[in-house]
Amino acid sequence: MIALVVTVPASEAEVAADALWALGVLAVEERDHPDTDEGMVELWTSLGDDAGHVRKAAEGLPSRWRWRTVEVDDAVADTWRAHAVPSWITPDLVVVPDWFDADVAVGGGPDATVLRIDPGSAFGLGDHPTTVLTLRALRGLLWPDATVLDVGCGSGVLSVGAAVCGASYVEAIDVSVAAVAATRDNAERNGVAGRVTASTTALADVDGPFDIVCANILAPTLVDLASDLRRVTAPAGVLVVSGVLADAHDHVVAALAPMRVVDRLVREGWAAIVLRH
Ligand SMILES: C[S@@+](CC[C@H](N)C(=O)[O-])C[C@H]1O[C@@H](n2cnc3c(N)ncnc32)[C@H](O)[C@@H]1O
Repeated sequence: MIALVVTVPASEAEVAADALWALGVLAVEERDHPDTDEGMVELWTSLGDDAGHVRKAAEGLPSRWRWRTVEVDDAVADTWRAHAVPSWITPDLVVVPDWFDADVAVGGGPDATVLRIDPGSAFGLGDHPTTVLTLRALRGLLWPDATVLDVGCGSGVLSVGAAVCGASYVEAIDVSVAAVAATRDNAERNGVAGRVTASTTALADVDGPFDIVCANILAPTLVDLASDLRRVTAPAGVLVVSGVLADAHDHVVAALAPMRVVDRLVREGWAAIVLRH
């Protein structure tokens, strides 16, 4: 698979790692490299095997950060799987890596709703704070028969979660073909394939409106997509955006005006913001 390696000053490692997390990666590893200049560190990550997608994402990073791609052995790239654990979203909803032992997973009791997710090479095992917050918000907002649009579906964890929690129809879109494939697989895995449609349709080409729209994407992308996010949210509907830092998202809220913030959920420095017309 293709690894993306971003070289940044050590003082910017944290902000660069945040930028990579929000791009939709499964893991970020900081490495010192003998050939790396003094005071610089390398951040290794993966954005899947679509070279064009990786290049496009990397070109969106600040131009002062150098980047390159490296071919990595799949077996080495998959070592994170051994460390994956279930993520409790609410006391009665858990996201479980599909290869994880089921008995351990249902520790919350027999009534817990279990989502089985294999992200493949897409983002979204359900453990990232932005995913936890968005799924938690969806769980609280969903009503029977609500329609949902998931913009930047990654593995489909939010789409599949919404369908399992009662949405009548979920449209999932992503720029990445790996994400579309993973979303279809995960919908099938959780018995909701009949209610989840996944594609690479651009948001601008989605008609809508939807009762609930969620978008867990990097802040600059949310700003770019703001007018379409407003358009596809039904007049009485609700929009949940995440992928933003808890103390740096005023510009995203401003771009979405005149929608107004009705709730904010925060976890580990990340936020999910709930808005209505
Ligand atoms: C942070 S991941 C979120 C994945 C999943 N929704 C979750 O919460 O775990 C962001 C996703 O947005 C996708 N993405 C980035 N820009 C996009 C755009 N303009 N339109 C649709 N999807 C986009 C990425 O490919 C990635 O899969």
